[in-house]
Amino acid sequence: MSNRTKKLGEYDKQFVWHPFTQMKEYREKDPVVIESGYGAYLIDTEGKRYIDGVSSLWVNIHGHKVPEIDSAIKNQVDKLSHSTLLGVTNPPASELAKRLIDICPPGLSKVFYSGDGASAVEVALKMAFQYWKLKGKPEKTKFVSLENGYHGDTLGAVSVGGIDLFHSAFEPLLFENFKAPSYYCYRCPLNKTYPSCDLACADGVEKILSEHHQEIIGVIFEPYVQAAGGMIVSPPGYLKKVREYCDEYGVLMILDEVATGFGRTGKMFACEHDQVTPDILVLGKGMTGGYLPLSATITTEELYEAFLGDYDEFKTFFHGHSYAGNPLSCAASLGNLEAFDNNRTLKNLDQKIQLFEDELREFSGLKHVGDVRSKGLMAGIELVEDKENKNPYAPELKMGWQVADRAMEDEVLIRPLGNVIVLMPPIGIPMDDLKKLLRVTYSSIKNATEAP
Ligand SMILES: Cc1ncc(COP(=O)(O)O)c(C=O)c1O
Repeated sequence: MSNRTKKLGEYDKQFVWHPFTQMKEYREKDPVVIESGYGAYLIDTEGKRYIDGVSSLWVNIHGHKVPEIDSAIKNQVDKLSHSTLLGVTNPPASELAKRLIDICPPGLSKVFYSGDGASAVEVALKMAFQYWKLKGKPEKTKFVSLENGYHGDTLGAVSVGGIDLFHSAFEPLLFENFKAPSYYCYRCPLNKTYPSCDLACADGVEKILSEHHQEIIGVIFEPYVQAAGGMIVSPPGYLKKVREYCDEYGVLMILDEVATGFGRTGKMFACEHDQVTPDILVLGKGMTGGYLPLSATITTEELYEAFLGDYDEFKTFFHGHSYAGNPLSCAASLGNLEAFDNNRTLKNLDQKIQLFEDELREFSGLKHVGDVRSKGLMAGIELVEDKENKNPYAPELKMGWQVADRAMEDEVLIRPLGNVIVLMPPIGIPMDDLKKLLRVTYSSIKNATEAP
C-alpha cells in the first residue's frame, strides 16, 4: 500500500464518521480510497478498478465521467454556483422543472426542489398534511405506510419507515401512523401465495382506509421495489389497486421513487409500468446521474392551488432548504436527461434487462439462494441457511458481507442489505461489464455460502 493511501486512510479513521457503518469494525480494515471513476468502474488510490455494482449507493445512472453531465457542470460553474430559490430563480432550476414535468406521468405539474431524498420525503409529508388543512380537513393527521418501507433517515421519513433494524431505536421520537403489510411475496406477511392471494397485501391498505380514512392524509410507499427493505419486488397490479383505494377513500397517494426513478426499473419512473399518476411523486438519487445532491417533490395543480392566497391568509408552504434549486445540481440534472436522449438509454435498457433476468435465473439453483427478485436493473438475491424452511442466516455470520468481501477481491463493489445481495448497476453499464458483475456475484455467493 502506498504512503499516500496509508495517510488518507489514517486521516479517515481518525476524523470521519461513516454513515450506516459500525466504526469499530471499519477501523480494523485497510481503507479503500476511491479516487476516480470511468464508465461503470471506480478506481482506488492503488490503481485497482472495481465495477460499481450498486451505482455508488443507487445514484449513478450512466456511469462515471459522463460527457453531458461533466460539461453541464463546468459551463454552469463559469456562470453561477449558487443563488437562493427563495423569491428568485435561476436558469437551470427553471429549465429543469419544465423538463421534469415533460417526462413525468401526466397530471403532475409543480416541482419543489430539495437536496436529498429524505428532505424531499419530509416535504411530501408536510405538504400533504397542510393540503388537507387548507381544504378544511385538519382531522387528517396520519399516514399509511408499509412494513419494510424506507424513505430516508430524517425523523418524518423514519416515522413512515418500516425497517426495525434502522428505525426501532428512534421509536420515542416518531409520529404515529398506520402500517400496512409489505408486498413481500417470498415471506408473505399474510401467509398467502401469489397469484391466488388476489393481492391481499393491497387489501391490507384498503382495510386501514375503510376504517380510518377520515383521519388519513395519504398512503406513502415505494412503487414496485421496496429497495432498502431488501429489494422486495411487488407483484403486478399492486400499484394500480392501491391507487384505486386512494381514490375511493379520498386520500393522497405519495410515491417515493427516490430509488426507482430515472430508469432503474426499465421505465423512466416505476409508476409508468401501471400508468399510475400519484398525487405526489418524490425523486432524488439518480436525478443528477449520481453527480450532485438534488431531489424533488412533484405534485399536481390541484394540490398546489390549495396553497394560493393573500400573504396574510398564511397559506404559504413554510418549508425550504438553503440549496434548493442549486444551479450546479440542476445543470447536472439537465445533463443527465441529455445523456438519456443522446445514448437512447431507456431503449437500450431492454436487452440489458433481458440478460440480467436470464443470468439471475441461474442464481436460483445455488444451494443457499432462497429467492431471486428483480425489476429492471434492480435485484435482490436473498440468501438462506436452509432453502426448504427459508431459515435466514444468523446476523453474526454476516453472510451478505462475506459475499461482498469476496466480490471485492474480484474487483466488484457491492453492498448487501443483511442477507440480501443487492445488484443495482448504473443503467448505462456496457453488456460485458454487466456480465462480469453477474459472474463475479454468482461465484462469490457460491464460494461464501458453500465453503466448508
Ligand atoms: C426509497 C427511498 N426514499 C428515500 C431515500 C432517502 O434518500 P437520501 O439518502 O438521499 O436522503 C432512499 C435512500 O436510500 C430511498 O431508497
